[in-house]
Amino acid sequence: MQWMATCPHETVDVLACELQSLGIEQQNKFYRGIMFDCDLETAYRAHLLLRTASRIQRVVGKFDVSDLVTLQAALKKIIWPDWLRTHHAFTVRPTLADQSAQKLDENAIVTSVVQSIQKSAFEKSPPKFDPEADNPITIILFIRDGTCVLGIDTAGRALHKRGWRTSGHPAVLKETLAASILMLAGYTGHEPLVDPMCGSGTIAIEAAYIALNKAPLIHRGKDDFALEHLAGFDRPLWRRVGDQLRAQKKSGLSAPIYASDIKSDYVDVARACALRARVEKYINFSVTAFQDLEPPAPRGLLIANLPYGERIGAGTIDQLYKEVGQIIKQRFSLWRVALLVPSQAPIHLLALNTTKEISLRNGALPVKLLILER
Ligand SMILES: C[S@@+](CC[C@H](N)C(=O)[O-])C[C@H]1O[C@@H](n2cnc3c(N)ncnc32)[C@H](O)[C@@H]1O
Repeated sequence: MQWMATCPHETVDVLACELQSLGIEQQNKFYRGIMFDCDLETAYRAHLLLRTASRIQRVVGKFDVSDLVTLQAALKKIIWPDWLRTHHAFTVRPTLADQSAQKLDENAIVTSVVQSIQKSAFEKSPPKFDPEADNPITIILFIRDGTCVLGIDTAGRALHKRGWRTSGHPAVLKETLAASILMLAGYTGHEPLVDPMCGSGTIAIEAAYIALNKAPLIHRGKDDFALEHLAGFDRPLWRRVGDQLRAQKKSGLSAPIYASDIKSDYVDVARACALRARVEKYINFSVTAFQDLEPPAPRGLLIANLPYGERIGAGTIDQLYKEVGQIIKQRFSLWRVALLVPSQAPIHLLALNTTKEISLRNGALPVKLLILER
């Protein structure tokens, strides 16, 4: 069985490591994603366990496409009743990823897929094409270099939507990005961790999940993954995989996690999110300005997503960046440090000798992960 996990281009290698740790050796790096081969059980594990994937697709076919005629000929060979159920609406999303693909007519591609499904021999009536339906199954055609990868989205909602987020903070990180920076910083849960600017708590919550070996998507509700609505879905196997992953969760941390913020409202939001994520009891929250923070242990990982461009209360961003750099040098000199900062932020004012700088994106915003190993 072929699958494709997608992620931002910059974190493909992190995703590759995650797939590797699931025992998936057969991997093919693709544009903003990785194609991989595995059996249904491993794929179900991947849906619940991958921390950095944005989405997952089941690959239906990969074929050459030079024009609409070749596409239609390839579509004719797909046995749609093997993939789709009659009662679940679907939509079609072509991605025309280079100039030659862009010569194809997007609407004609959609119509061709819809017609090929409607002409298929379903036992009852074929599924309805309805992009406005509640959570329609999405058929994705990724066309580039004269090749089309046709897949069916199996995630449903994007995988960063773990199910615990509440509103109340203006600058949250995506859960998948928080997990990526933790992994890029080498966090495994075996050292104390401090996020001194925790905002809504995303980094601390993802850290708790890593440290507890807890599957990030385990609390999604029944029928929340699109794969549950596809032909061939194996409910007993899905349940068994979920139960196994629940059983593999550790009962406690081997090193503490601390999360603080200067604003008490944000710490309240972080606590509420952690409670919904069922890890609140594992995180030590406090309302503290970074300027007043003392290291809770001789060594550990200090990881933070520094503010920039949002209102930061008294003082300027320049002043804050200078102070952050000084405090790290003075009080956290034995700690490993990972700071996520917008690329246009006054990084030089931190005056830190970083070991590594990794370019990433926070949504559309170019950011850097500055790492200081000790
Ligand atoms: C970019 S946000 C962090 C968002 C967080 N990563 C999340 O996903 O929700 C930066 C945070 O730094 C906090 N902050 C700003 N100045 C601070 C200071 N001097 N000490 C502690 N926290 C501060 C802000 O209140 C804000 O919540």
